[in-house]
Amino acid sequence: IPVNPFDLVIFGATGDLAMRKLLPALFRRHAVAQIPEDARIIGLSLSKHTTKKYRELADNALKQHIPAEELDADLVKTFLARIHYIPNDVTDPSGWTELVDLLGEKPDWIRVYYLAVSPSLFGVIAHGLATAGLSDGKARLVVEKPLGHDLKSAQKLNKDIGEVFNEDCTYRIDHYLGKETVQNLMALRFSNALFEPIWNAQSIDHVQITAAESLGVGSRGGYYDHSGAMRDMVQNHLMQLLCLIAMEPPHAFNGNAVRDEKLKVLRALKPMKGLEALENTVRAQYLEGPNSPSYVEEVNNPNSNTECYVAIKAEIENWRWAGVPFYLRTGKKLRNQATEIAIVFKKPPHSVFGNLTTPIESNVLSIRLQPDEGLQLELMTKDPGPGGFRLHSTPLDVTFAESLGDDFRMPDAYERLLMDVVRGDQTLFMRGDEVEAAWEWIDPIMASWDDSGTKPETYDSNSEGPTAAVEMMAKSGRRWRKL
Ligand code: BG6
Repeated sequence: IPVNPFDLVIFGATGDLAMRKLLPALFRRHAVAQIPEDARIIGLSLSKHTTKKYRELADNALKQHIPAEELDADLVKTFLARIHYIPNDVTDPSGWTELVDLLGEKPDWIRVYYLAVSPSLFGVIAHGLATAGLSDGKARLVVEKPLGHDLKSAQKLNKDIGEVFNEDCTYRIDHYLGKETVQNLMALRFSNALFEPIWNAQSIDHVQITAAESLGVGSRGGYYDHSGAMRDMVQNHLMQLLCLIAMEPPHAFNGNAVRDEKLKVLRALKPMKGLEALENTVRAQYLEGPNSPSYVEEVNNPNSNTECYVAIKAEIENWRWAGVPFYLRTGKKLRNQATEIAIVFKKPPHSVFGNLTTPIESNVLSIRLQPDEGLQLELMTKDPGPGGFRLHSTPLDVTFAESLGDDFRMPDAYERLLMDVVRGDQTLFMRGDEVEAAWEWIDPIMASWDDSGTKPETYDSNSEGPTAAVEMMAKSGRRWRKL
């Protein structure tokens, strides 16, 4: 799809997100000639850099985050030439003139304002843009989590932004939605007639959504201890995945049609509070390992009650999903890095093979987001040979790297999402009401944790997580998939 010329203004241009994700993603789109020749990238931040100095920083960022073989010298040169830099204090009303002048050179271009800054500045910048006459009802605003700390703060954020930018100009990023495999989940469901008839409580026993990380919180301790796994991963990434699995087929693949369906799922989540919330959730912290600090040591807060692991049994109260639990789990410092959605089907109602030495396993459709993006369908097959009738589970495996060829590079989520903003396609972005509905479900669970006066469980570093999570599953005769 052709892209019209644009000015992309990055607030927080010297920060980690800009350097690690945005500039590399833009370079890669530039390298495949997807960015129109004249389009400009305008970096803003408090630092008093010149454009020349900022281009040097951008050059270093590319070298750090993109393999050398992709960095063709001419491409880097033409990319850096697109970049402009303006030192700007967004809290100073007189600080906007340079940006006004630069953008004024191209009055008809698409304008995108990417706020790669703390959410406490979202409202300030939105209103600063309005006062400077830079929000013309067409310009697009891009923001990213944390989108609130709870329902109340999320509503305030939506209100502050909404006073300047209409919903159809507001792009709330959840980078999970930009992942190729997540989009493939929609392709799988809605372009194969095979799955939809069995995508319901009649055929599915339960769903597991896992985002396991092997790293600890590292240098992000300050942010993380204030946030925790529930706010950092569940409220956004995991709940978005749950919506894409559980939603009804949208009538079209467009922003409002898809988001309307996701919202219905969020509103159908069974609310949990008090004892019910405690019984259906597990929160935990990792312990000290032989050569690694514990969670509380890492965040330097011995009394921390913040969870860096959470497991939840969620239920969706509608006809399609009644009685099908959705188990969510995410955590830091676990045995493996593995992000996966597993659809676990019901077992056959009766074994025609009588008493088998190995029992019939459930069919499982797993969608691997990382590593080794791909799909796997686990089917029961017969062991070859005449010695009795033995069955075992055999994977039907599609590993995208293999099927797409060695040369294929899976694009980063930001490549897709940034270009979608420029194209004006909101399908892969969260709408304000979705964000609020997710908080509405999360808030009472977290309040129940606080009110209970209990401490988080613990687990060993590099393990499968806390035993309490295994027990939660075992209560209903199920078990987590191995990490
Ligand atoms: C971020 C969280 O949104 O997602 C991090 O803030 C987490 O804590 C990261 O590590 C995981 O993203 P990915 O793409 O590596 O699965």
